[in-house]
Amino acid sequence: MFPERNVPLQACNTFGIVAKAFSLVRVRGESDVQAVLADPGLGPAPKFVLGGGSNVVLTGDVKPVVLKVEIRGRRFVGETAKAWVVEAGAGENWHDFVTWTLDQGWPGLENLALIPGTVGASPVQNIGAYGVELQDRFDSLDAIDLVTGRVFTLNAAQCAFGYRDSVFKHASDYGLAGRALILRVRFALPKPWKPVLGYLDLERKRAETGVAAPDARQIFDWICAIRRAKLPDPAVIGNAGSFFKNPTVTPEQCADIIARDPKVVHYPMPDGSIKLAAGWLIDACGWKGKSVGQASVYEKQALVLVNRGGATGGQVMTLARAIQTSVYERFGIRLEPEPVVV
Ligand code: EPU
Repeated sequence: MFPERNVPLQACNTFGIVAKAFSLVRVRGESDVQAVLADPGLGPAPKFVLGGGSNVVLTGDVKPVVLKVEIRGRRFVGETAKAWVVEAGAGENWHDFVTWTLDQGWPGLENLALIPGTVGASPVQNIGAYGVELQDRFDSLDAIDLVTGRVFTLNAAQCAFGYRDSVFKHASDYGLAGRALILRVRFALPKPWKPVLGYLDLERKRAETGVAAPDARQIFDWICAIRRAKLPDPAVIGNAGSFFKNPTVTPEQCADIIARDPKVVHYPMPDGSIKLAAGWLIDACGWKGKSVGQASVYEKQALVLVNRGGATGGQVMTLARAIQTSVYERFGIRLEPEPVVV
């Protein structure tokens, strides 16, 4: 097994940050991982799993061995009374996979169209958009243990999905961060299909177009249009989607914030907590368009940090910390970053 040395990573992270991997192995199947583990030099070395690079901030050259997941393949697995089960290799592009499932006549992922990244990364942060989270369409996944080389399968409960969270984001206790590489993911696409239209942006599309009962392809097209209108295309302007999670607060904390700023965007959650729109909080602190070096807050969506060209990971993180400080000083809320900082 010969790893590639000093590999430029600029094209491998959607922020477009310049950094290199000291050593990188392309993983096209589980045998590649087994070979890494059996190698006397690579086996014991720390490892970093890289998918589409859509949720990372690289703050320097990467010293751990980069395992770049390039496992391909999509197939129909079978059907149950309630779902079509479809599988994809972890290295498949997420949006291409969503498009393929619709082309095959298995709707259910249309609200998650155009999310950058790979299929393998989708369960790691339980991607979500416009009323659907990955966990709502998840069946199971196969992963490989990066210490023992053992392949194992996890169901949804074992993935411990939360809001932009899973067992793959935690290193302590039974967490699998840095310990496992996802090989394949299976999705359960619901029978019968029902549209998920609760979001305001989708309601607006319905009103504008007069299409009262859209099919999945129509919703897919609307989602693509909505995202293109407010989120920057990483192929044009480097970014990692929402940079912070939407924070949750108690009703008392929310009432306190409303007393200070009645316009605060907030949504009651089923568990009684209140979710606040982080983008609104950042916007209210006047951050839209502000920069540190070449890292800026996107003008159309304050929750997205962008690379104006040549931004370093350090500049992105300095900007992120300044935003956290000002939101904390004004609202008493600590914003938590969504991407993994390497
Ligand atoms: N808002 C502002 N100013 C801003 C940004 C937002 O006032 O600069 C307000 C909006 O007007 C709206 C509210 O904040 O009332 C929420 O904004 P939006 O609908 O754009 O959604 P979001 O909460 O900012 C979340 C997800 C997105 C997902 C959308 C749609 C998180 C962290 N982000 O964004 O996910 O696409 O909802 O479901 O949960 C991602 O995770 O990378 C991502 C893009």
